[in-house]
Amino acid sequence: MPPLFPERASTMAYRVDALYFFLLAVAVFFSLLIAGLIVFYAVKYRRRSPGSVGVSIHGGMLLEIAWSVIPLLITMVIFVWGASVFFAMSHPPDETLNIYVVGKQWMWKFQHLDGQREIDELHVPVGRAVKLIMTSEDVIHDVFVPAFRIKADVLPGRYTHIWFQATKPGRYHLFCAEYCGTRHSGMIGEVVVMEPSEYQTWLSGGAPEGSLASAGEKLFQDLACVTCHRADAQGRGPMLQGLFGKTVQLQNGETVVADEAYIRESILRPSARITAGYQPIMPTFQGLISEEQLLELIEYVKSLHT
Ligand code: CUA
Repeated sequence: MPPLFPERASTMAYRVDALYFFLLAVAVFFSLLIAGLIVFYAVKYRRRSPGSVGVSIHGGMLLEIAWSVIPLLITMVIFVWGASVFFAMSHPPDETLNIYVVGKQWMWKFQHLDGQREIDELHVPVGRAVKLIMTSEDVIHDVFVPAFRIKADVLPGRYTHIWFQATKPGRYHLFCAEYCGTRHSGMIGEVVVMEPSEYQTWLSGGAPEGSLASAGEKLFQDLACVTCHRADAQGRGPMLQGLFGKTVQLQNGETVVADEAYIRESILRPSARITAGYQPIMPTFQGLISEEQLLELIEYVKSLHT
């Protein structure tokens, strides 16, 4: 195989390539067919004498049905196939290794749950589903790992997700695929895929500050969140134990699932969606805490069980 395609190093790579090859085959087949027929008919029906006039033909029902139905079937195959790959890409398995990503002009910051932080380099184990939970500090970026065939926008003010499962150890390019300013082309990095045992060694190598959740817990104390969000449900704010992933009843009668986005919003714009039965007394933390600290707080809330 000539090196026309990037290496295939994730479970998704094969599925994306299979679809891509199919599209390529359809395009090549019809290009050759049409070009061939043009030449063939140009020769066959060429003008043989100066006075000859072509027969006029008005419609051909069978032909018209054929050239409507066949393309319809082909495009439906592409649609259904493409949709199934898209769904597989956007629905991570239940058990994933979660890693937070913060894009910034012009670097990639990665945070592992155990507390390790990396810049422009991401270490992951081979054979395990990894979910990236991503946000941006400034403008729109886009994480793109060609060898994994994954690509997703990284947006300021919200969390986007992408997942992959690497299939072989190695180092793979990571690009920013959204023009984000002068040094966009320099916003690159590497994904380092390691054997699980090596990965464990790497993990134990450095996390001086402790896990993300414990950093979040400390912040929770320092910012005095704990005075209102008490574990005994007697606080002035909702109890956070067991909150993550639950459906929350809001004051305005609506409900919301307590995911990363909701917790983020509740910290930055507390009055946006008030839990039923509570007063809008929480101050905003907009501008007071960084994206990384937000992630620590979210991870702390996730770690709280009833
Ligand atoms: Cu970030 Cu381009």
